[in-house]
Amino acid sequence: MKKIVTLLSVLAGVVAATPAWAQEDKLLAQARNIATEIPPKLLAVLQEEITKSGPEGAMAVCRDKAPQMAKAASEKTGWNIRRVSLKNRNPNATPDAWEKAALEDFDQRKAAGEAPATLEKGELITEGTVQTYRYIKALPTQTLCLSCHGNPDNLSQNFKAKLHELYPHDKATGYAPGDIRGAITLKRAL
Ligand code: HEC
Repeated sequence: MKKIVTLLSVLAGVVAATPAWAQEDKLLAQARNIATEIPPKLLAVLQEEITKSGPEGAMAVCRDKAPQMAKAASEKTGWNIRRVSLKNRNPNATPDAWEKAALEDFDQRKAAGEAPATLEKGELITEGTVQTYRYIKALPTQTLCLSCHGNPDNLSQNFKAKLHELYPHDKATGYAPGDIRGAITLKRAL
């Protein structure tokens, strides 16, 4: 019995001694995986729907499917997942202070020549006794995105009418390929 107790306390010591950086590396890898998996899935659905019913028909996919996918992935993984933007379409997609700072930094780094698809940030945040791991990854604008987020002059009247009806306060047009449209952001209390 004594041996077992000794063994257990040694094991507990090893676990407690896992360096913080190793834990952070693991959280970063986990968050990065999730953030990388979701957007291509959404893109595939969007592409199919645009072909079938045009950008105004596909708008519902972005509106309903994106939050549904984020919710399903949140439930599966335990991470809180959402999308945000400095010029958001959905009023709920307003970034908080940490996300806003990261998005502004991404825009600056993109302007300085970094590839938008590589821009990400992960950080362990301690507030009082609560530790939270946060991760954010840029979502660059591709050609396909322009049919709903491009220059307003190139958007059809039908689309603009539907957009105005669903999102009267929309700020998410006027993007060019390679611009940072927004980000996918993940958070988890430890
Ligand atoms: C068919 C039209 C359509 C296409 C194509 C489209 N989007 Fe969107 N996008 C929307 C709509 C509608 C919303 C608002 C969704 C909601 O209500 O949550 C949105 C919201 C977003 C958001 C969340 C932040 C915000 O502004 O509300 C991001 C980020 C985003 N889109 C990025 C992209 C990217 C990147 C692409 C191309 C890969 C893309 N979108 C293609 C219609 C589209």
